Amino acid sequence: MQKLELPEPSREEQQHSDRLVELIKGEIEQSGGWIDFARFMELALYAPGLGYYSAGQQKFGEQGDFITAPEISPLFSQTLANPVADILIAMQGGDVMEFGAGSGAMAAECLAALQRKNVLPDRYLIVELSAELRERQKQIIMARVPDLIERVQWLDALPEQKIKAVVLANEVLDAMPVQRFVRNQEAVQCLGVALQDDKLVLKSVESDAQLKARVEAIEKNIGREFCQAYSSEINFNAQPWLQSIADTLDQGAVYLIDYGYPQSEYYLPDRIMGTLMCYYQHRAHDNTLWYPGLQDITSFVDFTLVAEAAVDAGFEVEGFTSQANFLIDCGLPQLVEELMSTDIKQQIQLVQQMKTLTLPSEMGERFKVLGLTKHLHMDIPGFGLRNNVLKLS
Ligand SMILES: C[S@@+](CC[C@H](N)C(=O)[O-])C[C@H]1O[C@@H](n2cnc3c(N)ncnc32)[C@H](O)[C@@H]1O
Repeated sequence: MQKLELPEPSREEQQHSDRLVELIKGEIEQSGGWIDFARFMELALYAPGLGYYSAGQQKFGEQGDFITAPEISPLFSQTLANPVADILIAMQGGDVMEFGAGSGAMAAECLAALQRKNVLPDRYLIVELSAELRERQKQIIMARVPDLIERVQWLDALPEQKIKAVVLANEVLDAMPVQRFVRNQEAVQCLGVALQDDKLVLKSVESDAQLKARVEAIEKNIGREFCQAYSSEINFNAQPWLQSIADTLDQGAVYLIDYGYPQSEYYLPDRIMGTLMCYYQHRAHDNTLWYPGLQDITSFVDFTLVAEAAVDAGFEVEGFTSQANFLIDCGLPQLVEELMSTDIKQQIQLVQQMKTLTLPSEMGERFKVLGLTKHLHMDIPGFGLRNNVLKLS
């Protein structure tokens, strides 16, 4: 990856990161000198009060580190409300449950659109790990749809009673801690973090049997062995996460939206360093140890792994397509037409936003949508155009 000059964080930010680094060092020492990368990533992103998503800095939007589809345009969430409404009608009611709701923009726009359609969910449940983000979400929802705030509930744990729901997760899978491996001839090594001269360094150790078996299973699935020193990552959190959702749902559908590939593309020979990326103030780089807590660390999603995990969890895979196809099939062009006023500036803005969401050179092809159902006998919307043209293998 091209090396970019990163802006120097402020003194305050550096002190914040130092506190997190001390915590990580403590855990490394307690663990005998090494922790695996997934644990490092978990601490860097989610350590209470210190991790990137758990602490107070601005993350989303122009002033933050990256921008997601719901932040680019309300058109994204308004379009997503169309299939949500269809499914709620088919189920004769139910909840919406959103994971990792970010700034709360998607929840607010989705609720507003569902209200206009007169298809409000019984509850809009938000599962959010970060206390700071919960607060922000509350403020945005209060500001945009104050009369609907009563329907919104923030959950600390998934409901114990089974529910009927449409589950939404935009850019959540890419924020889950991943395990990193390095293939060396017959051996597989696990990449983690250790200390050298009191500094965090990447260090690989011989992998355990579980990681080795997974790497070999991937090689079998893609029909080739990784070359010497091939390094990449595996999300071991997707399976338990999907299982917990399946266990909660009596009936429902799940839309997982994220950037990623099917496995054969994910592990292309060219991607010898994997897909991990770090973001700080809209600059992307690959130094995962740079100021822990100040930058986002993210990996692309292996949608084959996610689909297999979903089937194991008891879901049916209904479709897998690009974000562009999904949004077009869910009525984005019609929505834009309806919203067009005579104001030229507004027209240009709407068209520009639609292009950003759908053009292959923007988010249209890189982002994919995986649709799952449980005990729901309908073709869920979004996959009518070239459904399954994207192969999940
Ligand atoms: C890149 S942000 C995306 C935020 C928002 N969905 C958007 O599109 O703007 C990733 C979010 O996923 C959340 N997240 C990651 N793992 C999660 C999990 N297991 N349960 C709930 N939220 C999770 C993070 O806390 C963070 O809010």
